[in-house]
Amino acid sequence: LFPDLGPYKHAPARAFPLTSPLGMDQLPRQKHLKTKRKPFQLNVMVVGESGLGKSTFMNTLFCTDLNDTSVPKVPQDTKTVDITPVHFELEEEGVKLNLCLIDTPGFGDRLDRKEDVKPILEYIDKQYAAYYDAERSSEFRRGIIDTRVHACLYFISPTGHSLKDLDVETLKELSTQVSVIPVIAKGDTMTDEEKVLFKKRILEDLEHYNIPIYPHAYPDDDRDDMEETLKHVPFAVMGSDSLVDLPNGEKVRGRAYRWGTVEVENPAHCDMVHLRELLIIQCLHELADLSHHHHYHGYRTRLLRQDGRAESFMRCDEQYDEEMEKLKTGHDQAMSQREEKMRQQFVELVQTTEDDIRRRERELQEKRDKMMSDLEEQQKQIALLEQELNQKLTIR
Ligand code: GTP
Repeated sequence: LFPDLGPYKHAPARAFPLTSPLGMDQLPRQKHLKTKRKPFQLNVMVVGESGLGKSTFMNTLFCTDLNDTSVPKVPQDTKTVDITPVHFELEEEGVKLNLCLIDTPGFGDRLDRKEDVKPILEYIDKQYAAYYDAERSSEFRRGIIDTRVHACLYFISPTGHSLKDLDVETLKELSTQVSVIPVIAKGDTMTDEEKVLFKKRILEDLEHYNIPIYPHAYPDDDRDDMEETLKHVPFAVMGSDSLVDLPNGEKVRGRAYRWGTVEVENPAHCDMVHLRELLIIQCLHELADLSHHHHYHGYRTRLLRQDGRAESFMRCDEQYDEEMEKLKTGHDQAMSQREEKMRQQFVELVQTTEDDIRRRERELQEKRDKMMSDLEEQQKQIALLEQELNQKLTIR
């Protein structure tokens, strides 16, 4: 059930096959079990100038062909930047991911490029507003789909220089409303040295302009296993829709040049695997939590500050969150108990059925043995009768 999204229309979700393993089965056990019970929702927005390879990259990132033309494009009533949320259902080893990709074609195409960020911010806010209304409605308990943007991948042109004004302005605005992950587009067009230098410049610019990016600006104690991934921010990524042949006969996703092949899945060639690991394995839950506890709270505070109720609201808000957390924990516990009860019932049922089968097997075996011994007895008597008959015939 989608919350009321005003002018934004969401196409219904479609199941999509993976072209190669995505890695969702590597989620920590606890999260894996949770995700098996209820599919996880990940809403990713992509923003960047036209032609930077955003669509190609999303196909590559999620190992599927999300450009499938049979997916109905829902006409939007929004102006300028054409924001198109499209839903996909991905499944791997029983782990389900409901993925919503929000493309923003048209961004950066207009004369006044700064205006292009407005519809994007409006879209993000509209999702918070819809969630806010839904939370207070009776439909909420029945399960409203979370359409809030969990991560925004911002594509930076591989110029090798510093960030452009448009990038700085957009990143400043976006980062106040969502978790922004900067990526360098078409990483295959830069040498390793150029990439290192460009990443350094981008990080310096981000610091200079005080732009908070994910994950650096949102510290978490639970990131011991992420050191390697964090070293690669901003991720230099590349995309490819086709498979290329390697000299050893292997087929891989990549881009073939006269001088050689750049492989998408090779960490020595680009940072795709690191970004995928961050999004799908390491930070899948953290991004959703952050979108709720940080950005959505920010939205609610902004909203109430407008009518001067922020202070009292924040206190109510904390209470409300505690209540919601309690309800959620209670619900999770009840679900676990129900699951355990059903498991026990199932085990008992299997046990009873097995006992029953064994008992019937025994009865059948006994019946068979009895029939066999009767048969043997009858055969013996026939043999005796035959013998007697033969003797009588011989005497005559
Ligand atoms: P819009 O839909 O106009 O916003 O473009 P986009 O950002 O979605 O770019 P798209 O994926 O359509 O790719 C544009 C062109 O760049 C295509 O010709 C792709 O083949 C090419 N391309 C995509 N990704 C890469 C990449 O990683 N490296 C290189 N060299 N080219 C790429």
